[in-house]
Amino acid sequence: MIGYGGDYYPEQWSEEVWAEDVRLMLEAGVNLVSLGVFAWSRIQSDEGEWDFAWLDRILDLLGEAGIGVNLATATASIPQWAVRRYPDIVPVTADGVPLGPGSRQHYSPTSPDYRRLAARLVERIGTRYAAHPAVRMWHVNNEYACHVHADYSDHAAVAFRAWLERRYGDVDTLNRTWGTTFWSQRYGSFDEIQPPRRAPYSLNPGGLLDFRRFTSDSILELYMMERDILRAAGATQPITTNFMGAFEPLDYWRWAQEVDVIADDSYPDPADPASFRAAAFTRDLMRSLKPGTPWILMEQAANAVNWRQANAFKAPGQMAALSDQALARGAGSIMFFQWRQSVRGSEKFHSAMLPHAGTATRTWSEVVEYGSSLRERDVDLPPAARVAIVVDWENWWALDQPDHPATIDYLAEIQAWYSALHAGHVFADIVRADHDLAGYDLVIAPALYLLTEAGAASLRSFVARGGTLVTTAFTDVVDEQDAFRPGGFAVQLREVFGGYPVDFEGLPADGDAASATRGIREEFVVTTGSEVTDPAVTSVLGGRAVLVRNPYGDGLSLHVTTLTDQAGAACVLDVALASAGVSAPIDGLPNAVEAVPTTDGVVLINQQPDAVTVQLPGRTTTLGGFAVERVSLGAADR
Ligand code: GLA
Repeated sequence: MIGYGGDYYPEQWSEEVWAEDVRLMLEAGVNLVSLGVFAWSRIQSDEGEWDFAWLDRILDLLGEAGIGVNLATATASIPQWAVRRYPDIVPVTADGVPLGPGSRQHYSPTSPDYRRLAARLVERIGTRYAAHPAVRMWHVNNEYACHVHADYSDHAAVAFRAWLERRYGDVDTLNRTWGTTFWSQRYGSFDEIQPPRRAPYSLNPGGLLDFRRFTSDSILELYMMERDILRAAGATQPITTNFMGAFEPLDYWRWAQEVDVIADDSYPDPADPASFRAAAFTRDLMRSLKPGTPWILMEQAANAVNWRQANAFKAPGQMAALSDQALARGAGSIMFFQWRQSVRGSEKFHSAMLPHAGTATRTWSEVVEYGSSLRERDVDLPPAARVAIVVDWENWWALDQPDHPATIDYLAEIQAWYSALHAGHVFADIVRADHDLAGYDLVIAPALYLLTEAGAASLRSFVARGGTLVTTAFTDVVDEQDAFRPGGFAVQLREVFGGYPVDFEGLPADGDAASATRGIREEFVVTTGSEVTDPAVTSVLGGRAVLVRNPYGDGLSLHVTTLTDQAGAACVLDVALASAGVSAPIDGLPNAVEAVPTTDGVVLINQQPDAVTVQLPGRTTTLGGFAVERVSLGAADR
């Protein structure tokens, strides 16, 4: 059964409305709601004051109607009394500004008071509801680090020092690793170390990188604390928290190991005609974070959101097309923020499954229609991909440091390659370089600046065993601490590349009109490889860069000596896909139609409002705007 529903905030409504909610949920096919996400102050009105009676009643009401509950631990927004009693519970910015109450997420993840109060709340909720028949799963906190990407408070300083001490053992090792002889940055003891607060000029790159690691780890520790309390309280249901796509502050590879099921919140901009490709990327990322386990689209908007400069409607059919995109790419549940549109508060203009204007609305009709379309369907995971793109959070953090030859937006580099694949209708997984790559024919690793020994060994053996590897400029430049390795650049991959860079030149981030190059260009020395002179690639790269093709073992390395936009990536991919023997499942599909493989064919989703004609093997069909068609293909066509 596919889960269908959304965030439900009964605490915003009188109890007469609850009965109508349940009736309309059943009409819409809702079978799962997230409950209590921001209910802390409603459950605990002061430190010793608890009220669970209302939660008992709504859980019973939902349970009797057969609607499952994804019960939240309510720790995402602390009550006002917690700030009054413990003023230093709030997070602090790099400029030393405390982030006060009155909004949400105003807690310091390392505050001992926050941890104590949250632990108590979770223990009470877990003990009371672990055996409640309506509870199907647990929703820990909400969108960790969404608004507060890092905390620079005194609590964070204490916890950061302890984290560093665990990592390095003694301060001399830290000094050596960070290179603190530079600018007289040497530390005499761990106590002298601060979070990277505002300073006159660039901070130490090793310290910045470790602070990113610490931030992701310390917030993950919070998640694990709540999860373990729920388990100790007797919870047997799956436990998760909601991710936010490719979200830089948290290393979701590490987080994925700690959640039972991946859940994601996704809000592609309906005004951006290319946003469905970026959405497809995050869906593939979510599937890849926990292969083989259907993930949950935990939040999306039924129509417009409220938080962009201009908040466009979703076009008729677009919500269904984006939901089907998630299902085709491995989701097992389709959920929304939120069930009923609020009448007060910051999000009253955010769409909901049940709009403020009621059931005589297009949004409601589409929600009901989509819910009913799910009744006969079941979860259907796509088959394994033959192509993979490397995404690595530690590399992202390292690339994001200042003082590089040019400013690099790692996500944009990834998306250029992903979008080129997607526009070419080639299905891909997302991996880390040190994963098992044996099942892939083609691996693409854009801007893999920080490359670990394990990652390098894995890429080398992937090519040696017959794979095709695509890399770009600024790959294999530094070690785990953002320091150059001895012996020059690309010391770990130079045999694979058939050469190595000796210097890097910064280019405008958006490139120039005359070529597909951008960001960084390498001065590259070719050793054993032969420089490719594919006229198509050379002309797209504008003569400013080359594609170095080098056979290595049974495979092939294709190294582009620049960063490139989607057009450049597409051109290089023509060479790479041919070498790997991978092609689109159907030739000549229009650009805005996406194709996702199924076990016996392909799902086609037209992600634009205009109808298109599609040539399938042996027949022609017309796909309406935002229409979806499942096509079976014989083994020979797949
Ligand atoms: C996030 C949050 C929700 C809500 C929506 C609005 O996903 O988790 O509480 O604020 O954004 O789009």
